[in-house]
Amino acid sequence: MGLLRIDKVICDSGIATRSEAKKLIASGRVYADGKKIASADTKVDAENSGICVDGQIINGKKHRYFIMNKPEGVLSATEDRMQKTVVDLLPPELSRLNLFPVGRLDKDTTGLIILTNDGDFCHEVTSPKHHIQKVYEFTVEGTLSEEDVEAFKQGIILRDGTKCMPAVLKIDNENKSHGFAAVFEGKYHQVKRMLASRGTPVIKLKRISIGGLKLNESLKYGEYQEMDENEIKILVNKNVSI
Ligand code: URA
Repeated sequence: MGLLRIDKVICDSGIATRSEAKKLIASGRVYADGKKIASADTKVDAENSGICVDGQIINGKKHRYFIMNKPEGVLSATEDRMQKTVVDLLPPELSRLNLFPVGRLDKDTTGLIILTNDGDFCHEVTSPKHHIQKVYEFTVEGTLSEEDVEAFKQGIILRDGTKCMPAVLKIDNENKSHGFAAVFEGKYHQVKRMLASRGTPVIKLKRISIGGLKLNESLKYGEYQEMDENEIKILVNKNVSI
């Protein structure tokens, strides 16, 4: 990443604003490579200088990636004047990182959503050219059959005539109103419209994976966790099977 001013690195980590970072430095609370930093314009290697504020190492990474289990009733947006967004669910130190959701889930859809401040990564995951698999667990009105599985395989034609790419439908053997759908594109209300076109409107929808990355079952609604490098790689390079 090269060398950056230490006050900027502290600010980018989310723990302080730029002016607060300057005050922390002036009051002798900031160390890099074990040495006290005397001046805000000191240049450091953000990722490798072991920058400590009040004895705590700060995260010097330029880009950050979080998985959230989106609750129902929250918008996949950065801000909204009237309604709560996924970014509103983050604590202040993370809301300073300018994170935004990667792609969209409907307000009533729950499950895996990624928040990042890496625009290139967002593009890679959401670009229609890359066909990254997304898996949804659903409950529908009515029941599904092998004909629906075949229709998904062939590519559903939505009620407005739009043709979808081939997708995978897996019906729960014990409950034919419940199952999983794997899609490789991201049209507006895609899964709901695909299932509605088969006469089985969606009652409940939850995204459980993106590429090779699965929603951690222990993450409660509204909770989040930081992704590691391996999770970022498997998201882009693998798929889960349903
Ligand atoms: N498909 C939908 O219909 N809704 C979502 O939120 C995501 C995929």
